[in-house]
Amino acid sequence: MPRPILATVHLQALRHNLDRARRAAQDARVWAVVKANAYGHGIERVFDALRGADGFALLDLAEAERVRTLGWRGPVLLLEGVFEARDLELCSRLGLWHTVHCDAQIDMLAAHKTQQPHRVFLKMNSGMNRLGFAPERFRAAWTRLSALPQVDEITLMTHFSDADGARGIEAQLAAFERITHDLPGERSVANSAATLRHPGRTRADWIRPGILLYGSAPDFPEHDAEHWQLQPAMTLATRLIAVQQLKAGDAVGYGSSFTAEGTLRIGVAAVGYADGYPRHCTTGTPVLVNGVRTRMVGRVSMDMITVDLTPVPDAGIGSEVTLWGRAESNGALLPIDQVAQAAGTVGYELMCAVAQRVPFAPMPVA
Ligand SMILES: Cc1ncc(COP(=O)(O)O)c(C=O)c1O
Repeated sequence: MPRPILATVHLQALRHNLDRARRAAQDARVWAVVKANAYGHGIERVFDALRGADGFALLDLAEAERVRTLGWRGPVLLLEGVFEARDLELCSRLGLWHTVHCDAQIDMLAAHKTQQPHRVFLKMNSGMNRLGFAPERFRAAWTRLSALPQVDEITLMTHFSDADGARGIEAQLAAFERITHDLPGERSVANSAATLRHPGRTRADWIRPGILLYGSAPDFPEHDAEHWQLQPAMTLATRLIAVQQLKAGDAVGYGSSFTAEGTLRIGVAAVGYADGYPRHCTTGTPVLVNGVRTRMVGRVSMDMITVDLTPVPDAGIGSEVTLWGRAESNGALLPIDQVAQAAGTVGYELMCAVAQRVPFAPMPVA
């Protein structure tokens, strides 16, 4: 029998979340952001559910090829553009749209021989200070780009650093609007947090939601997935492979970091940090056993965790353990954001980190 751990991708949830993005964005077109192998879900697994999007946005040329291999003929956007000049050949061949965030990328385009002019997204660094042209340099970049025969349409884009928090988007949006207000072309500014929290201000022509498609709240813990009417797109589940009866004073796991105060039944679940379950999770991290909420106790080891069975006295070897997502037994939910919080991280990291050794079971198309 294979080890009982399994990740499940919920296609219906992906469809629902895409629809949620559409409702927030009204008539804007939607990029489904599928970088990092669709945030760990697998591009091939999510493709059917997300093909209702207007385009797929990603980073990697290999991922762009995978989207084309799946038969997608619509827009594909490279969110960081090309990394070297020869990447432009593949852009021409596959009809990829690409971000231009620096002079070197304009130089590469100027030297590129293509029959088919490229559609580019010119990125402004409006305050995040990662990628993009500073506001005072943006118009010069636009002028240079628009003079190139290799370039067709130019969409104006920026990316928010604080759409999920109190600092908000105003300063960045003001910088973007000040510089671009009289330039022609479409606009794209909103990630998930901006789409949900500032819908009227950031809708523009294209939105770029990622995390919301996968059912994690971009601004947790201020709001949770339920608040935003998002459904989890991934369940990570396993089973109990052993049960131990502890007496007062008995400790559990490496470092004996948890000691039972009285008699305590604990279950040993087949999941560990080698599966992508974060080692930073400590005693108290929520877990579902047979769909009943309980807590992890002790340290996460490479292949196992230990869970308190007090609220589920009927649990035993073979009982279902849900690490995040939806329990198959009773439909109970454990938001990935709550587990991420217990590990001092965000849902993004957990879903991207599910290890290669974990088998995936795609849900049937409903
Ligand atoms: C340029 C750009 N747009 C959109 C996104 C999607 O962001 P989120 O997953 O927060 O919606 C990202 C992700 O980092 C990004 O880099």
